Amino acid sequence: MPDSLTTIIDAKTGKQFEVPQEMILPEHLSIIDSRTGKEYPIPVTNGTIKAMDLRQIKVSAEDFGLMTYDPAFMNTASCQSRITFIDGDKGILRYRGYPIEQLAEKSSYLEVAYLVINGELPTQQQLDAWIHNITYHTMLHENIKKFMEGFTTDAHPMGMLVSTIGALSTFYPDAKKITDHESRTLQIYRLIGKVPTIAAYCYRHRLGLPYMYPDNELSYTGNFLSMMYKMTELKYKVNPVLERALDILFILHADHEQNCSANVMRSIGSSQADPFVAMAGAAAALYGPLHGGANEEVLVMLRQIGSKDKIPEFIKRVKNGETKLMGFGHRIYKNYDPRAKIIKQAADQVFEVTGRNSLLDIAIELERIALEDEYFIKRKLYPNVDFYSGIIYQAMGFPTDAFTVLFAIARTSGWLAQWQEMLLDPEQKIARPRQVFLGHDKREFVPVEMRR
Ligand code: ACO
Repeated sequence: MPDSLTTIIDAKTGKQFEVPQEMILPEHLSIIDSRTGKEYPIPVTNGTIKAMDLRQIKVSAEDFGLMTYDPAFMNTASCQSRITFIDGDKGILRYRGYPIEQLAEKSSYLEVAYLVINGELPTQQQLDAWIHNITYHTMLHENIKKFMEGFTTDAHPMGMLVSTIGALSTFYPDAKKITDHESRTLQIYRLIGKVPTIAAYCYRHRLGLPYMYPDNELSYTGNFLSMMYKMTELKYKVNPVLERALDILFILHADHEQNCSANVMRSIGSSQADPFVAMAGAAAALYGPLHGGANEEVLVMLRQIGSKDKIPEFIKRVKNGETKLMGFGHRIYKNYDPRAKIIKQAADQVFEVTGRNSLLDIAIELERIALEDEYFIKRKLYPNVDFYSGIIYQAMGFPTDAFTVLFAIARTSGWLAQWQEMLLDPEQKIARPRQVFLGHDKREFVPVEMRR
């Protein structure tokens, strides 16, 4: 049989036919419209059908065509991506194919940032250049400092961070050249370099402490700790255990595929806005208590519980729907979040330096009780990344409301990777969902004196 022919068997008669390959449909789904009796073969590619292929399904020529309805994107892929893979049932997380456990053990945050953004692990030369370029973009324009001085001393650090990242857009008008590879790379250096400096300024502003300039001789996390905590000493002495623990936490938070804030980054970026304003939007999405704000909420919750003997009473309230067990549950993970496992190990090393935190004992007991409880088992609710990260951050001296800022520093690389991938994807256009309109039909305007 020539290569171009394929044998097909008629299921009804058992007869065999040889037909040219091009006549065979790719893997597809047959949809029969019960309204018209018409059958539509819809191609299946990578386990998905294209929503636009449904548009041909109509009852009349004026019909707009069939749409899908998917609030909160529960079952809609909005892009093709090659950055982060998650298997939520098995508890697997990989950046560009590399398991998170290996990266957390063997890599550094800046190396992972390179991997996430550029797709491959860097050679030594590439890594040195990458670190150099980011390190030499850590300083802020002095006017940014003045801008930040305008915040009240009780301003939430995330509010300050979101506004200041947005304000950077006005300092770098060249960032509008989003189709230019060199310009994009420069903005990537700037954002990864400057976000920790802004974060540290937020912290010191609230305490009324003078701003500490970056120290380019230190590592990325070492410099961040120096900008946070350096007082009168000439050189800040970084504790290597805390420096490494923070680096691991940053690695774990670098990216997490199409989460709420990544989706915002892509969505704003799709209008070709510059990366500073797009990232301000992404950081705003992260601020919410159901997303990156959860690590702050975990601490609030643990403090409210107060002691181990109050846990059963708290669990009862969760089960009654009065409150949530913060740091538990995930849209994607229906298993133990692999990041939570690594964080738990890092916690032990941190506590050896800082001394044990009583909230950790409450958290461990809370986790044990919840994991044995039918309510959580049935709903597949396990600890997520935020359950233990806050306890470590607290032990390292970070104030509770700065936790989400730490998350934002780490996620900067992921947001930028998602943004760049979106820009380079020829299938992407300005993001603009449809709606199902259920409001009023046309009606006539009623003058105010006639309204009831
Ligand atoms: N405590 C108690 N019950 C919960 C929790 C929780 N933390 N999370 C989910 N549930 C329950 C829901 O009430 C629901 O129960 P029901 O079926 O009886 O109505 C069921 O589990 C399914 O939950 P959904 O809300 O449908 O799950 P969804 O995927 O929409 O939400 C989310 C995921 C937002 C993370 C949720 O689990 C949650 O609110 N967790 C607490 C906040 C948190 O820790 N967020 C951090 C997530 S990780 C990150 O963003 C970095």
